[in-house]
Amino acid sequence: MAFLLPWTCVLVGCFSASLAGAYNFSDLYPPLWEKSPGQLSDYRVENGKYLIDPWIYLERLGMYKILVNKTASYFENIVANNEQNIFWGLPLQLGWQYRTGRLADPRGRKGCGYESGDHLCISVDSWWADMNYFLSALPFLAAVDSGIMGISSDQIMLLPPPKDQTNFCLNISSCQSSYPEIMSKWNAFYQHLQNPSSSFEDLLKYFWAAHVSTLEHASKIFEDRLEYYSKPEANFGRNWCVAVKYLAVALFPTTLVRTYEFQKGLPPRMLVNGDRAPFIHDFTDFQNMVLLVLSFLRQVDNSPGLFSLTAWKILMRTHHARMQVLELFQVILEIFNPTFLSVSSV
Ligand SMILES: *[C@@H]1O[C@H](CO)[C@@H](O)[C@H](O)[C@H]1NC(C)=O
Ligand SMILES: *[C@@H]1O[C@H](CO)[C@@H](O)[C@H](O)[C@H]1NC(C)=O
Ligand SMILES: *[C@@H]1O[C@H](CO)[C@@H](O)[C@H](O)[C@H]1NC(C)=O
Repeated sequence: MAFLLPWTCVLVGCFSASLAGAYNFSDLYPPLWEKSPGQLSDYRVENGKYLIDPWIYLERLGMYKILVNKTASYFENIVANNEQNIFWGLPLQLGWQYRTGRLADPRGRKGCGYESGDHLCISVDSWWADMNYFLSALPFLAAVDSGIMGISSDQIMLLPPPKDQTNFCLNISSCQSSYPEIMSKWNAFYQHLQNPSSSFEDLLKYFWAAHVSTLEHASKIFEDRLEYYSKPEANFGRNWCVAVKYLAVALFPTTLVRTYEFQKGLPPRMLVNGDRAPFIHDFTDFQNMVLLVLSFLRQVDNSPGLFSLTAWKILMRTHHARMQVLELFQVILEIFNPTFLSVSSV
């Protein structure tokens, strides 16, 4: 039973060790993972530069695949199969966005991102896609800059979207000059990653600091995109940004199995007018509950009450409290997910 596990167990070892045998990890990967580029040489090369088009799902996913691959050795000491790599959270999020139509043009115009049109196209009008750009391109470029990819900083160039190009930096030097804070947070993370004395929890701390800083900057730039969406979907997007801050403070480990299980609680399609949790009939109880909790979180966020982010930060200052939140999380997952229960009680 989860409550009896010592914290080290909850954070890394036993949880995954007991689950490792029960999962075929390739079933947990994002859609089309096998088809996406797994090494830099799978991309086009021009004038000695690798060219990546992040507005094509496979090419953006490939940046994550390379990141997950190149950072594997820093996590390998914990559990085999690279399951404990905390980068998994990012490609799994992108995969969920792709599967649920969130990368498509929200105004449905040119068929970008639709089954009937170019389904691998990522629309620059999609709020989710633009937010994710900052969580894919920037961490990837910062990884190149910190030497993890084994190429020099000027050997990589991203292709611009068809419009609004000034919002998107395309190479290391332009990202550093346009978004110095975000880039320095990712650089700090990679420095700690390469430092053998960093603990798993240290890495989570720097990872989440970079993640939150990225989202905070990007959400300001793309706020107007939310107007393209139904009210429930726009609110869900805003709620999601708030929820991520709470996950960050609790240092949620974005490893493969844990993120996969957590994502079962996210909406399996775009929200439309009339969707009201917990009464969305084609959603599971878990999905309805997660939506409800997210809207609750945003309502209390910044309020002076018990659940405000400030209070949460104070509460989460101790290691013990963070571990209790993780345990609670696990229990919730087990309640809503019978297969998970049978797997983890083995
Ligand atoms: C895992 O799943 C993949 C694809 O579904 C399949 O090719 C592979 O053989 C499976 N591996 C095991 C060990 O079952
Ligand atoms: C990383 O990618 C290389 C080349 O595709 C592959 O040989 C290696 O097994 C991968 N490593 C991990 C940990 O996935
Ligand atoms: C980076 O991109 C900018 C335009 O976004 C360009 O002016 C600059 O030459 C590029 N730098 C390198 C090193 O490729």
